[in-house]
Order: sequence, then C-alpha cells, then structure tokens
Amino acid sequence: MISGIGLDITELDRIEEMDNKSDKFRNRILTNGEQHYYQTLSGYRRIEFLAGRFAAKEAYSKALGTGIGPECSFQDIEILPDAKGAPILYFKGSLVDGFVSITHTKTVAAAQVILQKVEHF
Ligand SMILES: CC(C)(COP(=O)(O)OP(=O)(O)OC[C@H]1O[C@@H](n2cnc3c(N)ncnc32)[C@H](O)[C@@H]1OP(=O)(O)O)[C@@H](O)C(=O)NCCC(=O)NCCS
Repeated sequence: MISGIGLDITELDRIEEMDNKSDKFRNRILTNGEQHYYQTLSGYRRIEFLAGRFAAKEAYSKALGTGIGPECSFQDIEILPDAKGAPILYFKGSLVDGFVSITHTKTVAAAQVILQKVEHF
C-alpha cells in the first residue's frame, strides 16, 4: 500500500545563483556519490541536476512526513541514476521502498516521491 506521497518544485535561477556563489550549497545538498555524478556533467546540466536532486529530496522528506530536519537531512537522502538513467532512492544507506520521478524545464525542476509499505495479512 502507498504510505506517503511528496511533491516539490524548485526554480533553477535560485539554484544557479547559490551554486555560482560557492560550493557550500552543493556540498550541503549532494552526497559524495551525487557530487561525483555532478562533476561528470557540464554547463547547465549541472544546475538541472542539482535543482532536481534538491526538489526530489524535499519531496522525499514530505512523503516521509518529517520535512528536512534532524530526522531527515539532505545528506541522509541519496538519489543515484541506474544503468538507464532512472533515479533510485536511498535513505540512510538503504534502498527505499518507493519511487521518485524528476523533471526539469528551462525555468524549474520538479519531483514526486511515492513510498510504499508491504501489507502483512
Ligand atoms: C517540508 C519542507 C521540505 C517544505 O518545503 P518548502 O520549500 O518550505 O515549501 P513547499 O512550498 O515546497 O511546501 C510547502 C508544503 O509542504 C507541506 N509540508 C510541510 N511540512 C511537511 C511535512 N512535515 N511533511 C509533509 N509535508 C509537509 C505543507 O503542505 C506545505 O504547504 P502548506 O503549509 O500550505 O500546507 C521543509 O521542511 C523544508 O524545505 N525544509 C528545509 C529547507 C532547507 O533547508 N532549505 C535549504 C536551502 S539552502
């Protein structure tokens, strides 16, 4: 059964401004694995990727019901692409039982997360 849903939309220009200022924002949002992937990207793809991860992590925190905070930090959530590029969600090192979908346009990135729980009868 579905145990949580979360949705977030993020403006790319806001993310670009923070990412151009220093590494601080990126280091706060992206895990080491995600930063490694970010470094393989060039130009505006980096901003799309960072904004998409930001939106997906906020969406995950909403699906969990905690928001971003002590129970669920940006570093607790990792979203890495599989062999075909689809995003796969991990929380505190474990694969999440759920799904994430990310999209971006010229101006915004958005993400949706659905969590599920196995029912035992
Ligand atoms: C929950 C959270 C992700 C909300 O994100 P936001 O960008 O402030 O706001 P959004 O417009 O995306 O979402 C707001 C909605 O989230 C929902 N929401 C708030 N707390 C929530 C929670 N604990 N669980 C699920 N949904 C929640 C509410 O419906 C809220 O709208 P409402 O108050 O009108 O009902 C918030 O905990 C958060 O962003 N915290 C950290 C932010 C941060 O550290 N940013 C870093 C910038 S450097």
